Amino acid sequence: MLAPTTHPEPCVLVIFGASGDLTQRKLIPALYQMSRAGRLPRALRVVGVSRTPMSDDQFRDKLNTGVKEFAPGEFEESAWREFAKQVSYFAGDAATPDMFPGLVQTIQKLGADAGLLRAGGMPNVLFYLSVAPELYEPIIAAIGSSGMVAEGHRWCSIDPLKTPWQRIIIEKPFGRDLASTVSLNRALGRVFEEEATFRIDHYLGKELVQNILVMRFANTIFEPVWNRTYVEHVQVTAAETVGVGSRAANFYDTAGATRDMIQSHLLQVLCLVAMEPPGAFDAQEIMREKIKLVNSYSSPSDDELAAHAVLGRYGPGPKPGDPAYENEKGVDASRRTETFAAMRLHFENWRWAGVPFYIRSGKRMAAKLTEVVVQFKTPPTNLFAKLDPGLADRPANRLIMNIAPRDGISLRMEGKVPGPGLRIDSAKLDLDYLERFGGEVVEAYGPLILDAMRGDRTLYKHRDEVEGGWRIFDPFIQSAELRAGIQTYAPGSWGPPGSDSLIARDCPPGRTRVWHNPKQDDVR
Ligand code: BG6
Repeated sequence: MLAPTTHPEPCVLVIFGASGDLTQRKLIPALYQMSRAGRLPRALRVVGVSRTPMSDDQFRDKLNTGVKEFAPGEFEESAWREFAKQVSYFAGDAATPDMFPGLVQTIQKLGADAGLLRAGGMPNVLFYLSVAPELYEPIIAAIGSSGMVAEGHRWCSIDPLKTPWQRIIIEKPFGRDLASTVSLNRALGRVFEEEATFRIDHYLGKELVQNILVMRFANTIFEPVWNRTYVEHVQVTAAETVGVGSRAANFYDTAGATRDMIQSHLLQVLCLVAMEPPGAFDAQEIMREKIKLVNSYSSPSDDELAAHAVLGRYGPGPKPGDPAYENEKGVDASRRTETFAAMRLHFENWRWAGVPFYIRSGKRMAAKLTEVVVQFKTPPTNLFAKLDPGLADRPANRLIMNIAPRDGISLRMEGKVPGPGLRIDSAKLDLDYLERFGGEVVEAYGPLILDAMRGDRTLYKHRDEVEGGWRIFDPFIQSAELRAGIQTYAPGSWGPPGSDSLIARDCPPGRTRVWHNPKQDDVR
């Protein structure tokens, strides 16, 4: 949330998948960081649920290791001890309804000890699904049949503040195609109201992603040129230097870059860049604008699809022990899973008709980099070329929003080089957020979980957005032609050659269109 006007309401946070990687590396370190900063309600109770038998203390010890390794900033023993008191463990198989009566009792007891009980003898409960995706639907159904989720709409009950709420956060991957996403949304809808459903995307918790909205709508100068008249094209990139490694076997090989990064994180970033100004700064209005944008996507015909995308997978690295993706443990090479994907997307609305949006993501690339590039058109006429033909091909303005590794915004401008005669060169107006505004790096999950405790879905995804996203990317994922043409790229490069041809294709005559591939030293 951008303006915390309400406080996170204390609740019992039930984490399903408590012995998993995400809980260890992200969720608990993020909650600990929020607790250390005094942002977590003291009455909050966290109960981890998973099958592994463990005592509360064993669970806390396990989490302690994760916090020491992964929480940003220095580890503080006293802050940890304070936080650990709020955490407990419940062993059981969440996909089986038999487990739930015991869990309900535990939630009630934790709620009673913390003074959180409301009407019906239950506290507010926030469920967090951080389990294998095939367990989502059985767990949601089991929560439903446990009777914990009150029927009807809380917002219109006589006294909403006395009625406990029940909300649910669901991790990605949210479905693996349109059909499974519709089915998951229906399963959720049978138990939870849409307003109580929080589809998380940790990219929306990143400072600079939120800042895209502030940059666009708290300044006057960008909005008038943010359209097809002035913008030539837009690039959205998320490149990583790491390979897939041990994630291949249990997740990545059946997912690939399009599902893992593009359909989820990068589409969200693109939506914030391209949506219309919302009528108000709240979840409903922002979601509405994102949905409108996604619905204006103009899909290529099946015959044209392959000309709008390219898939790649990394080859072997220079060192022994740097396998090609195909040789990573657990990879079935015949699936031709992509570790790189790039697509050209078009949104047929009044603002963007005719402006291509290029979106790409890959593993084992030249740099860790997440950014948006807004490439403006050249001025309508070049006065200076008439004086000196050498000035005919000057680059146009370009705005770059750096999301990672450091937050920043820079604008490329043309300037006269001081001195006699007319020499023109490019220069960069540069804003580095940490340098200018200070502050510490915050693990994106922390503020997002607090938002769910406030009931604020501004940085979460609506059912229609997610389904709209799959409508865009399903045809690419399922195209046999694209998959058959998958290209190999060298680790440490910017992807396969087809990626450069994709962006160069359809470039207006006399101009060049290339990806912004900064050298390692230029990456902010
Ligand atoms: C995750 C993907 O959602 O995001 C990973 O599953 C990816 O494959 C990660 O590495 C990237 O996140 P970040 O915040 O490091 O850009």
